[in-house]
Amino acid sequence: MPITAIVLAAGEGTRMKSSHPKVAHKLLDHPLVWWTVRTAREAGADRIVVVVGNGADEVRAIFANDPDVTCVEQKERLGTGHAVRCVRDELGAFSGPTVILYGDTPLIRPETIVALVEETRTNHNACTVLTMCPPDPTGYGRIRRDADGTVEAIVEHKDCTPEEQASLTECNSGIYCFCGGRLTDNIDKITTNNAQGEYYLTDMVGIYREMGEPVSAVCASDYSEMLGINSRIQLAEATKVMQRRINERLMSEGVTMLDPDQVWVGADVTVGRDTELLPQTMLWGATAIGSDCVIGPNTRLTDVTVADGCSIEETVGYETVIERDVTVGPRAFLRPGTHLLAGAHVGTHVEIKNSTIGEDSKVPHLSYIGDTTMGSGVNIGAGSITCNYDGKHKSPTTIGNDVFIGSDTMMVAPVTIGDGALVGASSCITSDVPADALALERSKQQVIKGWAAARRKRMQEED
Ligand code: UD1
Ligand code: MG
Repeated sequence: MPITAIVLAAGEGTRMKSSHPKVAHKLLDHPLVWWTVRTAREAGADRIVVVVGNGADEVRAIFANDPDVTCVEQKERLGTGHAVRCVRDELGAFSGPTVILYGDTPLIRPETIVALVEETRTNHNACTVLTMCPPDPTGYGRIRRDADGTVEAIVEHKDCTPEEQASLTECNSGIYCFCGGRLTDNIDKITTNNAQGEYYLTDMVGIYREMGEPVSAVCASDYSEMLGINSRIQLAEATKVMQRRINERLMSEGVTMLDPDQVWVGADVTVGRDTELLPQTMLWGATAIGSDCVIGPNTRLTDVTVADGCSIEETVGYETVIERDVTVGPRAFLRPGTHLLAGAHVGTHVEIKNSTIGEDSKVPHLSYIGDTTMGSGVNIGAGSITCNYDGKHKSPTTIGNDVFIGSDTMMVAPVTIGDGALVGASSCITSDVPADALALERSKQQVIKGWAAARRKRMQEED
């Protein structure tokens, strides 16, 4: 039976003190609400509905390219029950297990949701509540059970008597699995007759109870999964929890970290065995690192593929493909469209954009290479650059195999340098160089013997 997940994400998040909706704030490399949606999908939800309200367009944009996610707008925030009603009104009745999740509660694990769905299926429950026992239950809805332990109702903190506030310590996490059909049939029974004048989704428990529909609870063992984010301090805490989870998984899979507190790895990044991640390394987006690599220190890679046996030191890279046994850095900048073939070396203070560096080719020091196709076995001397931009157009540079470019060479594009050619240091190359030729563009050196000594003598006499 297909599973539906409804992710409530309409809230304002005043305590974030932000002009962006709370759920759009990033935890590692993705917005908060993205993590909840991902977890729902991992738990088997094939239909995911996100309830948007505050900053609706910004939240919608997060899922613009995700066919599994539908956004429903809740124009007025009249309570959690009202949010679910908006979904029913817009999308029609739903059937099958329907899980309620939150865009600001990103640490929930898929296993926890699966257990909730299983309990609902096995007991044919109308609703299964995920409960928790936090150290301080203040503010949470409380689980009221009857003498034989069955769940009777959820009572919001503000609607509890002082005695109940003290004695009822089992709390509602706010996460449930409902039977979709019975939820849509009965949701209109919720009223606003409570301390906050809101439509409480929690009232469904009492409503089912009166109807004789089965309701039960699953108590979560790890309370930190339910950590909701209301402030930037809580955002930082949740980030730490997620960072630790991801890093512990990677270490258990064979990745070494000198200091896991100083390594940040995004949700979808993969890292191979025996790779070492050094401090101040951030790996984001669709980055994939092979085996036996050393990455960092001080390295940030976004959407970068690195094959086995590479060393990437103090480097920033975006949308780049790096083949095996490549060395990069320290201090290189790899911009989109960079492709470094096997055995290549990109060294210190080098920037590469939209270029292929051939097998075993080297760009070791202080260079800019843009819009260039380079063959294998090339050596680019220190300080050489491609002049690919004339203020209006970008032009390509082609460098053949086994070319030697002397230091401080300007290659004014469009230009082609043939296989095996040699360019003398400090040349400004404005026309093509044929294969195996020497190109030299510099004024003739003058040597005047004894000139410097004569000058020194003159200056001494003036003193
Ligand atoms: C809710 C539960 C409470 C539980 C707690 C756990 C109710 C009535 N109470 O209380 O039992 O212990 O969660 O954290 O459900 N939202 C909307 N639209 C709305 C209202 C809320 O999208 O109209 C979203 C909010 O953005 C928020 C979440 O739902 O992410 C929870 O809403 P909130 O009003 O804060 O509920 P709590 O008071 O936390
Ligand atoms: Mg509230």
